[in-house]
Amino acid sequence: MKRFLFALFALMVSMPSLSAAEKSAPKESEAYKFADKLIKKMTLREKIGQLQQFVPKKGVVTGPDGGVENIEESIRQGLVGSFLNIRSTKRMHELQRMAVKESRLGIPLIFGFDIIHGCRIIFPENLAMSCSWDIEAIERSARIAAAETAAIGIHWTFSPMCDISADSRWGRVSEGSGEDPYLGAKISAAMVRGYQGKDLSADNTIAACVKHFAAYGAPQAGRDYHTVDMSRFMLIDRYLPPYRAAVEAGAVTAMSSFNDFEGVPASGNRWILHDLLRGELGFKGFVVSDWNAVHEMVAHGTAANGKDAARQAMNAHLNMDMVYGDYIKYGEALVEEGEVSEKTINQLCREVLAVKYQLGLFDNPYKYGSQNKSEVIYRAENLEFARELAAKSMVLLSNNGVLPLKEGVKIALVGPLADNARSQLGSWRGFGEAKRSVTIREGLEARFGKDNIFYAKGCDFRNAIEGGIEEALRVAENADVVLLSVGLSHKESGEATSLTDISLPAPQQALLDALKGTGKKIVVLLGTGRAMDIRNEVEKADAVLLTWHGGTMEGPAVADLVSGDKNPSGHLSISFPYCVGQLPLHYNMKMTGRPRKSPQHNSKYLSRYTDAPNEPLFPFGYGLSYTEFEYSDLKVVTPNVSMGGTVKVRVKISNTGQCAGEDVVQLYVRDLVAETTRPVRELKGFERVSLAAGESKIVEFKIPTSDLAYCHSDLKVRADSGDFLVWVGADSNAKLQGKFAIR
Ligand code: BGC
Repeated sequence: MKRFLFALFALMVSMPSLSAAEKSAPKESEAYKFADKLIKKMTLREKIGQLQQFVPKKGVVTGPDGGVENIEESIRQGLVGSFLNIRSTKRMHELQRMAVKESRLGIPLIFGFDIIHGCRIIFPENLAMSCSWDIEAIERSARIAAAETAAIGIHWTFSPMCDISADSRWGRVSEGSGEDPYLGAKISAAMVRGYQGKDLSADNTIAACVKHFAAYGAPQAGRDYHTVDMSRFMLIDRYLPPYRAAVEAGAVTAMSSFNDFEGVPASGNRWILHDLLRGELGFKGFVVSDWNAVHEMVAHGTAANGKDAARQAMNAHLNMDMVYGDYIKYGEALVEEGEVSEKTINQLCREVLAVKYQLGLFDNPYKYGSQNKSEVIYRAENLEFARELAAKSMVLLSNNGVLPLKEGVKIALVGPLADNARSQLGSWRGFGEAKRSVTIREGLEARFGKDNIFYAKGCDFRNAIEGGIEEALRVAENADVVLLSVGLSHKESGEATSLTDISLPAPQQALLDALKGTGKKIVVLLGTGRAMDIRNEVEKADAVLLTWHGGTMEGPAVADLVSGDKNPSGHLSISFPYCVGQLPLHYNMKMTGRPRKSPQHNSKYLSRYTDAPNEPLFPFGYGLSYTEFEYSDLKVVTPNVSMGGTVKVRVKISNTGQCAGEDVVQLYVRDLVAETTRPVRELKGFERVSLAAGESKIVEFKIPTSDLAYCHSDLKVRADSGDFLVWVGADSNAKLQGKFAIR
């Protein structure tokens, strides 16, 4: 029985990690001292100015109703603290000069931009990267992005997106790390470390932003910007860990989400922005709203007008108003009328100034953008790394032996993504340039020789093209194998791209069917930013390689894998559903009162569909290789662990196939009896292991009991004593099982 609660332990797990707080403490307190001194010299209007972010009329527009006129005058008068989405270094420096030289107090501006998966060099979309399960590599990608971003003159990225999502109707799944809180937490912390480095004031680091706080990844029915209806319990138990990890890694900014929570839009929700983010997670930086999200409280129907919206947001502890301008329009009046206290404004302002100080902007406001760009941007070793990461992110979903291709093979390369320099960059491509993309066609030509690649586009993403199929059939005639590069374009990935049908668009299915008719072997290269319903393609193709939107170096990475120069090693961070009706779908579903114990267990009165399986087509964690891995000898080294101790589990993994390869060894647990319902399985450890053919290794997992903490009905996160099952294997259906207990 596990009813014994450990109060002290509970306190420990619900507190931000001390080491993170300690690390940044001296710089932070110095920054606050500086800010407090400066605030004493500021007028109320100037203080509110620091809380306003604008996008210039000619800036990149990533939402409705953007763009201010007269930005020069606003800067001179100190009515703006930040801009987003300016692309030109020269322009940023001009505006900075105005702020520093021509405004009364010379407070520098902070420039933000969405650098989500790379700046100039574009890495695979985030969901794809997360399928590498390579935390160091993901951190490195963020570090490279930060250096390139800083060299362009930008101080601040709106990343990482920490929103867990299990619903691929929502286009923004591409921006996150999939459905799992444990993997998501490791990745969001790594990205913060990558962006911010050890010294935020260095000229190759930038400020990170934990977004979208909170629960943005669960809009009803997968429709972007739609209502989120979630309990505090669910938020804390499942959705919070990636945000928490990013805060603990030291992220200095956060972004409020568009959605409501418990009926109150996040941007005006004091429980979300103050009690939870600052109180519970220990966040110390500043919060920016999402694009117009303050003013959108009027459309939500929880604010009467812009002034009321600004009042609610300021009192909820939202520091900076992105784009719309309600803060600067109404801030002074709100203070004069006693609706917002000047003390509140001081608090909001000091947190903004402190971040500017930490970035070193008061020392040298032009430092960012003054680096020698050619030394930082598109570095050869970084391009090579992008190629490696793209290959590690790709997931081999099926293969009847057609892959890897034989040397000298003649390839028909067909499909709308085969030579599509723009789409491979995916959504939010930052400063990525299609002209620098190496397409799949180019990658294959370089690897197999131009004479061996016969290319035809075949069709557009959602439209047939005249003569397209005929041309595809012609090129297939001369080939030994068809590589069919199909999927969704970058325009169907990311923000505002919700879909109700996530199967391959009809013209592309028709192309597959026509090619299938030739009797040639077909390899589907699936490019997408979301999980899709690909039953049809899996059935018809000889192999399916999920290439995602693989970024600048996608082409060479595909060539590396299909040639067998590299062995596929990506594993899904999101379940591929059997059909759209299963969504949202995730492996870590809760136990129910009427679980179906196996697909054969078919009584009517069980939690199941009558027209489709409960199981996904491909489960979380899944991914094939050209070699075979065998798992054996699972040993729970510590069958009984005391609270505060460490569970140790060992397993042997052997490469029993013909070539070297890497696998992601995954450990899952189930808490058998808990105070609140627990998932059927939860990921609690993973390790990427590299093995030569015939080689074996012992992998040992060490799981502190604090990692087994969960949310109780009093909304506190703590671990209990009790019994657990544990599984280790190569996906979330891992079969090797053991058990342990916390005593
Ligand atoms: C998105 C944010 C993004 C912001 C600024 C919004 O529409 O939701 O993720 O950071 O625009 O571009």
